[in-house]
Amino acid sequence: MINFKAVDESAIEQLMAIETACHSHPWTLKTMSSCMGGRYFNLAAFNESTLVGFYIGEKAGPDFTLMDICVTPSEQGKGIARQLLSQFIEYGEQQNAENLFLEVRETNARAIKLYELAGFTQMSVRKNYYPSDDETKNGFEDAILMGMALNLDFS
Ligand SMILES: CC(C)(COP(=O)(O)OP(=O)(O)OC[C@H]1O[C@@H](n2cnc3c(N)ncnc32)[C@H](O)[C@@H]1OP(=O)(O)O)[C@@H](O)C(=O)NCCC(=O)NCCS
Repeated sequence: MINFKAVDESAIEQLMAIETACHSHPWTLKTMSSCMGGRYFNLAAFNESTLVGFYIGEKAGPDFTLMDICVTPSEQGKGIARQLLSQFIEYGEQQNAENLFLEVRETNARAIKLYELAGFTQMSVRKNYYPSDDETKNGFEDAILMGMALNLDFS
């Protein structure tokens, strides 16, 4: 049974273990630490007491950005990211966010599919945004900027 709760800096080692297992170019501990508290918010997924996934979001006025979402490899494909993402959207709605944004590597088909199923659409491309190990890409990869408008009340 998966349960969800926000975590603080005391969970940083568990977050970093998942971060480094999931990403080709993971955040550093310093970056992860800087995304705890303040304008950042998060939700972690637990299988019993084991942290198995998380998202980190950022609030900037009416714009909320999904900074990171990861599920530990052994727990992927079970719908955990879908639940985390829908709770990110729900939180934005509750907080009266107007826009949700995220960036994703152009080659990350799995994540793009997940975001599209949740209602995000592709808005633009940020050229050479991410470092890449793919020699054919000169060490960089494009990011796709995706977004979703919330609370569209024109009355
Ligand atoms: C992307 C990621 C978060 C998905 O986590 P997950 O818990 O496995 O995803 P879910 O099980 O909730 O799957 C959600 C949807 O993603 C898509 N998906 C899942 N596995 C897929 C696969 N192997 N191929 C293509 N699409 C897939 C499906 O559309 C799925 O919906 P469905 O189950 O209704 O078919 C996870 O793979 C991950 O941590 N990747 C590394 C980190 C990363 O790339 N994060 C995104 C940064 S922008």
